[in-house]
Amino acid sequence: MRFFAASLLLVLPLCAQDKGGRRPPGPPTNLKVLKVATGPEVIQIMRTYTAALGVKCDHCHVQGNFASDDNPKKEIARHMIAMSTNINTNFLDGKVHVTCFTCHRGDVEPKLAPEAKPAAPPGL
Ligand code: HEC
Ligand code: HEC
Repeated sequence: MRFFAASLLLVLPLCAQDKGGRRPPGPPTNLKVLKVATGPEVIQIMRTYTAALGVKCDHCHVQGNFASDDNPKKEIARHMIAMSTNINTNFLDGKVHVTCFTCHRGDVEPKLAPEAKPAAPPGL
């Protein structure tokens, strides 16, 4: 729902400018790693990214232009998508076991080790 509210704000100025503005989102024009064809499919995947990293769309995107590659985080994310696909194809059953969330757990920077726990009581 929040996306649709946001897209209204984006689409209005775009309509005045060029072909880009459509509701629901039009087909993607600049995909280099994802293998999907429609706007709604892309948006569904993007929602998994925002949830996995605990960020908003503009962490990886230039505000108001999703096709632009000017935000360097987008290219990092492309590497992450390719890396995740690579990890999954190396599982014996070929199924998806690793997603962005598996590592990120709602954080931009995944943890390397568990949070420090209080020291064990003496005698244990
Ligand atoms: C973690 C980074 C990241 C976040 C967060 C993210 N995106 Fe993306 N987005 C990407 C990447 C990377 C691509 C390009 C994928 C490719 O090259 O196959 C992309 C592509 C897109 C595209 C296709 C643009 C085109 O025309 O090619 C749309 C639309 C889009 N994102 C919308 C969103 C929306 C809406 C959100 C927030 C709900 C969002 N993105 C959040 C990384 C992100
Ligand atoms: C195997 C673990 C792992 C998986 C899976 C993974 N990431 Fe990451 N990601 C990391 C680590 C570790 C970092 C921090 C080091 C770095 O930036 O290279 C990171 C950093 C990033 C960053 C840069 C963060 C910033 O703002 O500085 C983005 C964006 C990102 N990941 C997106 C994704 C997306 C999208 C996916 C799923 C397609 C994903 N990651 C899957 C481990 C992972």
